[in-house]
Amino acid sequence: MRKLHFLVTAGPTREPIDPVRFLSNRSSGKMGYALARAAVAAGYRVTLVSGPVHLSPPLGVRVLRVETADQMRDAVLKETKKSNVILMAAAVADYQPVSRARQKLKKGAFHRALKLKKTVDILLEIGRRKKPGQVLVGFAAETSRLLEHARKKLEAKNLDFVVANRVGRKDSGFESDYNHVTLIARDGRAWSMPRMRKDRLATRLLDIFRSSPERDSSRSLP
Ligand code: PMT
Repeated sequence: MRKLHFLVTAGPTREPIDPVRFLSNRSSGKMGYALARAAVAAGYRVTLVSGPVHLSPPLGVRVLRVETADQMRDAVLKETKKSNVILMAAAVADYQPVSRARQKLKKGAFHRALKLKKTVDILLEIGRRKKPGQVLVGFAAETSRLLEHARKKLEAKNLDFVVANRVGRKDSGFESDYNHVTLIARDGRAWSMPRMRKDRLATRLLDIFRSSPERDSSRSLP
């Protein structure tokens, strides 16, 4: 049987302000890379779209490197059609400068020059184009009302699963080797997980995706 294809996103995006500055966030890429490694170890074909991180490419994974949200969108949309399972662990910047200054902005000009606009919502776009049988998993990084916000994202973005991720603490989430999440399925099932290492969590999440019937098809992932 043809190997299933996993598409994983990881890391932050950087939105350039001028030649030396950018808007970004604290994502290290560890969660997305752990998911990519776990999927390859389980025998799947894996493409990883990665923002700028300091991690070695996982063995056996095709890595596409991007910098900005627009580049991540283009790379992801190109791969979406041929992907069976899409795991969006990247922390895409929510805003980007309206324009990128060609010269380094002077300190005094900075606050007048910096105008922001929303970045493209990649997950929303994929959710709208999702094909029957495709499994779409988003993350929701929240510091408050975790499950409520996560469920809203699951609905709004047409997801099959959302990984509700408690962030804002030093011992898990962004940059840490650990994560503390609750997985919520479209049919309402939820798995509340203890704080655990990202590599272990990745394997656990994959096990659940594999044993769950897909939303629009009677097939399960082998
Ligand atoms: O990289 P690490 O240091 O290991 O940290 C892991 C993590 C905390 C980044 C990861 O576990 C996580 O929670 N990733 C999602 C972070 C995030 O941006 O969450 P959000 O609630 O802002 O976004 C919701 C979903 O929409 C995410 O799947 C995100 O990839 C996607 N999104 C967001 C904005 C945007 N413009 N386009 C998107 O596709």
